[in-house]
Amino acid sequence: MKVTIVGAGNVGATVANVIATKGFASEVVLIDIKEGVSEGKAMDIMQTAQLLNFNTTVTGVTNDYSATAGSQVIVITSGIPRKPGMTREQLIGTNAKIVKSVMDAAIEYSPDAIFIIVSNPMDAMTYLALKNSGLPRNRILGQGGMLDSSRFRYFLSKALQKAGINATPTDIEGTVIGGHSDKTMVPLVSLATYKGIPITQLLSEELITEAVEQTKVGGATLTKLLGTSAWYAPGAAAAAMVEAIAIDANKLIPCCVYLDGEYGEKDLCIGVPVILGKNGLEKIVEVKLEGAEKQKFDESVAAARDTNSKIGEALQ
Ligand code: 2OP
Repeated sequence: MKVTIVGAGNVGATVANVIATKGFASEVVLIDIKEGVSEGKAMDIMQTAQLLNFNTTVTGVTNDYSATAGSQVIVITSGIPRKPGMTREQLIGTNAKIVKSVMDAAIEYSPDAIFIIVSNPMDAMTYLALKNSGLPRNRILGQGGMLDSSRFRYFLSKALQKAGINATPTDIEGTVIGGHSDKTMVPLVSLATYKGIPITQLLSEELITEAVEQTKVGGATLTKLLGTSAWYAPGAAAAAMVEAIAIDANKLIPCCVYLDGEYGEKDLCIGVPVILGKNGLEKIVEVKLEGAEKQKFDESVAAARDTNSKIGEALQ
């Protein structure tokens, strides 16, 4: 499989690196507008091939989309990351134009590709990518839920540790839906378990609330610590989505997709659990939402619609 990563910043390079080390793709092309950056990062990654024992070929190019021709999956990470104190939504003015122009360029050379949008504000950028390209919804996916769910599992493992249980994130099931946004993402406590045991039976309400709130601001916390947004987990999450498509995993992964009646919503892209396979979105899984979780999802939908309403202006 040939995969293109647009944007060779921290996230893009991490996606390329994780894909290479996992070995499921034959070729990865890293493309950026900054002269030499993609070439340098690709060469650096390739110089780990013998050390890490992989056979994927990673190449870097500066703004030459012909090198991306025939890609089966294209990951878009282009745009600016947020700085401490910023929301993802504040990036729309800059990133909407960038996402639109890279989509236009990439699609010309890879008309059959499946697109994974990572650029923020991700839900709105996924909606823009879908509307602008006119591609069927199975081929336009946004990366957010996979990352947020992984953060949720991490914070739940810390909470369980505080409660005297030596949990690791891999012992935990946890799903986050809704927008990839500090205020409105929805960590689903009702579905979270530790070795099959509902976390509500193991943790106090206070510890659960703490893990939920830490998850929601997980990206902002790292942005404050790092001075820019995170890359290891966002990159690994996007790579996991590429892998699910590459190996036709038909695996449940929370990600941002276009809703057309599912969850009672239409005409927006937002995070829900989906089955990812060789066609990209294979199926949306409709989890029954009740009470506060349903209300929070509705609030998240309203916030995503509000951000979408700003796309037109951002493109001018
Ligand atoms: C994050 O949450 C970059 O949005 C990404 O870290």
